Amino acid sequence: MSGPKARSRKAKDAAFGGPEVNLNLWVRGLAPSATVAINERSDQLRAEGRRVFKLGLGQSLFLVPEPVVQALRDHAAEKDYLLVRGVRPLREAIADYLRWEFGVDRSADRVLLGPGSKELMFLLQLVYYGDLVIPSPAWVSYAPQAEIIGRRVRLVQTRAEEGWRLTAERLDALCRIDPSQPRVVILTYPSNPTGLTYTADALAELAEVARRYRVILLSDEIYGELHHLGGHVSVAPFYPEGTIVSGGLSKWCGAGGWRLGFFVYPDGLGWLLDAMAVVASETFTSTSAPIQYAAVRAFQGGPEIAAYLTAARRLLRALGGLSAARLCAAGLAVADPEGAFYLFPDFSPHQRALAARGLADSRALCERLLEDTKVAVLPSADFGRPEKELTARLAYVDFDGAAALAALAGLPAGAEPDEPLLRAACGGVLTAIDRIGDWLAG
Ligand SMILES: Cc1ncc(COP(=O)(O)O)c(C=O)c1O
Repeated sequence: MSGPKARSRKAKDAAFGGPEVNLNLWVRGLAPSATVAINERSDQLRAEGRRVFKLGLGQSLFLVPEPVVQALRDHAAEKDYLLVRGVRPLREAIADYLRWEFGVDRSADRVLLGPGSKELMFLLQLVYYGDLVIPSPAWVSYAPQAEIIGRRVRLVQTRAEEGWRLTAERLDALCRIDPSQPRVVILTYPSNPTGLTYTADALAELAEVARRYRVILLSDEIYGELHHLGGHVSVAPFYPEGTIVSGGLSKWCGAGGWRLGFFVYPDGLGWLLDAMAVVASETFTSTSAPIQYAAVRAFQGGPEIAAYLTAARRLLRALGGLSAARLCAAGLAVADPEGAFYLFPDFSPHQRALAARGLADSRALCERLLEDTKVAVLPSADFGRPEKELTARLAYVDFDGAAALAALAGLPAGAEPDEPLLRAACGGVLTAIDRIGDWLAG
């Protein structure tokens, strides 16, 4: 529209000015999720025709296993709203799966489904009145969720020498200050952002502290199936009465966009499950029906799904190990990963040279790295590390997942993929790491 009519409409709009900016205090000033933001920035650079190495967003690149996709096709016509907690066959499949895979003995009545475990974490913080305790570094969304709701966040520091793991001593020191304070403690293992995990002994020690202070332990095991040796151990059997197990389809099944996650509660936390289900009934109502039915197939497992997972682990183990070795050769400090698809390199051995380039914190470091090398990684400040620390999270997932698994398929069982094979299958990741090395040397 143009001409006098348009002019008078504009004048009217200006006179009324539209609704005023009135944001909830807890939301004011919040930035978009760091991982989503880096993904959008990388996509924008790609749209401008640049080659960007996307080691920012932690997304599985493997295709959803074919039997699970077939189950989704078979149920595409499911259209009804379902039970808030999730359909019975899926809750049963998840309860059975957790029992046989990880020795977590819970009934189907104690399962709550949601559109992603992230949404359930938000509901938990909304419904439960207590502090949020997380190690630093921790996944990017826990603390912002608490802040949106107005909960207090307590960060527990960890150390590189201890594999960035929460220790029983440090958790105890925090809880001892105010022993009766209600708390949710989140443990994530294998870890996003470090790719490291806990031993059974360490979990048992943490469980003892959790029990002493009667905290709710949210055990975020979304990467459990991607333990590189298939050796994931859950903390739930060590503290059965207080542990909620969180998981879903997003990482091991390559189905982040399907949006299906679960929480599994102990009997004694039925009141929390009930309260979360009430809020769920007033918000998302139920998780997508076709996805729930397809997920039954995923959690039923079987030889095809087991083979898919074995192949994914073999690739991630080899690629993660080689990536860590290349970064170490470039003078960074980084641990060999044990699970998931993350590394948490420390650039501080290059601190002086970086300072000479005007780079004294993780945000500036990652910005410049993207500018100069087109490699996108996330600053550790987004994971709760001190601003001045020169660490970052690198997700080694810039490759074609289906092609990479096909390339490995010819290898004899038990043989590790070597560097030429990995370069052929996952060249983007290794080129990106070479670029980081060249940039540091240059
Ligand atoms: C540690 C961790 N927990 C939870 C989630 C959320 O997963 P979803 O909401 O897809 O189940 C993610 C996703 O990136 C994650 O990395």
